[in-house]
Amino acid sequence: MKIEKVGVLGAGLMGSGIAEVCAKAGYATVIREVSDELAKKGVGRIESSLGKAVEKGKLEAGARDAARSKLSTTTRLEDLAGCDIVLEAIVEDLDAKKEAFTVLDRVCAPHAIFCSNTSSLTITEISTATGRPDRFAGLHFFNPVPVMKLVEVVRTIATSEETEKTVFDFAKSLGKEPIRAHDNSGFVVNRLLVPYLLDAVRALEEGVGSREDIDRGMELGCGHPMGPLRLLDFVGLDTTYAIAEIMFHEYREKRFAPPPLLKRMVLAGRYGKKSGRGFYEYGEGR
Ligand code: CAA
Ligand code: NAD
Repeated sequence: MKIEKVGVLGAGLMGSGIAEVCAKAGYATVIREVSDELAKKGVGRIESSLGKAVEKGKLEAGARDAARSKLSTTTRLEDLAGCDIVLEAIVEDLDAKKEAFTVLDRVCAPHAIFCSNTSSLTITEISTATGRPDRFAGLHFFNPVPVMKLVEVVRTIATSEETEKTVFDFAKSLGKEPIRAHDNSGFVVNRLLVPYLLDAVRALEEGVGSREDIDRGMELGCGHPMGPLRLLDFVGLDTTYAIAEIMFHEYREKRFAPPPLLKRMVLAGRYGKKSGRGFYEYGEGR
């Protein structure tokens, strides 16, 4: 199947990065957000990322302009009708994802493939909102999307072989290196990464070390590019809390349970880098 037009649901941290790599790869890309303001903010993030790539000599100005010309935004799900593939990257909430896919199933062409970028829900449970489980797969990108090479391609028991191949080839066409993962909560990477991140919060709660020492420990002792608390700020504490709740519910294992400190920080609006404050402070007034 030939993919020409891509729909991206959500222009937050992940949706904007996903739309950027699709547009850079030459796909006509329509982004759907819930408001014009959020769509504009997402496009602003893409323009800034493309601009930095030009400044660093990694992208030609012409390629930046070509990518920008491939992007459009809408607040109407109906405007994704002509897409050959839809990549969903909205909040980590099963009902919200199912609601969006129920509408898309009605408006999109029968051949269109649907993918979710979920971190922790199973693709099977999201796909039940549609009448096309054979054309439904997981395509899990990593943050920051323009930089991280990996994507996980997830095939459910209902996904057709043809869909998996199309999605795998599509991921490669974006310059990514896909791996296959089974449809288990957290797939491969988050199954391993999420308990580690949650344990770092527990270590802080228990006074094992200061935030700086926990982070420096993992950076300098294990060669991680950023420590776990900074990485949590980067992923978003609200998103991580939702992921932990889902994985804990799925596996009923303490290692996936969200620590009380994480919950309190989310309740206090400290979502991490995106809200200006998490374990660290960002932007003006830091
Ligand atoms: N968009 C585009 N490019 C970006 C970027 C962004 N948001 N952030 C950084 N970059 C680029 C920089 O421009 C820079 O490029 P050059 O090397 O060509 O100059 C490069 O990435 C390195 O950036 P910096 O020098 O500014 O900073 P750094 O060396 O600390 O790297 C980082 C930043 C790439 C984010 C690095 O710290 C890193 O890899 N961190 C870990 C990220 C990670 O673990 N991601 C996975 C999160 S979990 C997930 O995604 C799954 C889930 O479901 C929750
Ligand atoms: P985010 O909070 O930055 O962005 C979510 C965006 O979705 C918001 O802008 C919101 O307005 C929008 N949205 C909500 N409902 C919508 C709808 N019905 N249609 C269109 N837009 C809608 O979240 P994020 O970090 O980009 O995460 C998005 C998804 O990607 C989640 O499923 C998350 O688990 C997954 N994910 C996140 C990361 C990460 O590091 N943050 C990494 C991989 C996967």
